Amino acid sequence: MTRPVVIDTDPGCDDALALLLALERSELDLVGLTTSHGNTAVDATTTNARSILELTDRTDVPIAKGADRPLAVDLQTAEHIHGSDGIRGPLPEPTEATRPVDTHAATFIVEQARAHEGELTLAALAPLTNVALALALEPDLPELLDELVLMGGAAFSPGNVTQLAEANFHSDPHAAHRVVRDLDPTIVGLDVTKHATLPSEWVDSIPRDDPLGRSINEWLTYYSAEHLERYDIDSAPIHDALVIAALVDDVLETDPFYMEVGTDSDLAQGALVCDPNDVTGNEPNGTVAVDADYERYRDLFVETIDRFVAETIH
Ligand code: RIB
Ligand code: CA
Repeated sequence: MTRPVVIDTDPGCDDALALLLALERSELDLVGLTTSHGNTAVDATTTNARSILELTDRTDVPIAKGADRPLAVDLQTAEHIHGSDGIRGPLPEPTEATRPVDTHAATFIVEQARAHEGELTLAALAPLTNVALALALEPDLPELLDELVLMGGAAFSPGNVTQLAEANFHSDPHAAHRVVRDLDPTIVGLDVTKHATLPSEWVDSIPRDDPLGRSINEWLTYYSAEHLERYDIDSAPIHDALVIAALVDDVLETDPFYMEVGTDSDLAQGALVCDPNDVTGNEPNGTVAVDADYERYRDLFVETIDRFVAETIH
């Protein structure tokens, strides 16, 4: 039984690999992509999503373009990490085959949640603006969705933008606050995604004499030497791919928490604060991934991408 999934995304090198996993896994029925500002402007993330679907010959998947800015704070992007167009690799120019639908991403999410009532999984890999707007459009979204699994936050680890905040939450803290408060998310944050790296010897084994192989290699090695040194790691964490792996295999260890997201100060902007000591006395409003089976994740990732490459590169 496949599960219908909408992926909200800001490709983005790690998003691109997460999309490959979702496209290749038969457990998932990717009913659509929604695009957001984040790693770069929404026009570019939309172009990048279209290029990825053209590169993988999956122009059947609809794309709905979303928010071009956060709910309240100023737009921030990350071309310094993902490349000048927000992505790396030799991608094809989009064609009419991947023209986005006329529906805004938020409306698309609501329409798909209603069409697949109680069965739709929403995988959010970007700042949460589209998801918060969908919730504002449809207050019954929590009941309509089967599950919301998101990459974001840093509950018990340092952030990657400030000491406390991870990029997706920092980019739109008001959206993250509302989504965490009202949508009972499963949060896959830096606590686990910082370990979502792939074996360098496998990365080097991917054939680079083809646009798909060269793109996959560039997406896997998107962190610069400076960033690897800054984080004291020897390969790039593929943050978003861990969310997709968690949809198809039991790779995460999660715990329920009452939690809030900081919105009203520069240094606390986007901070994910959990209440493990029950100081507030509030019931949990979501679950946080506190550990993962990284070897199981790596095996799934390698097996899926190897199969995708074998099927696509002749
Ligand atoms: O902090 C990592 C997250 O921010 C990932 O989703 C990455 O693609 C960027 O959007
Ligand atoms: Ca992302």
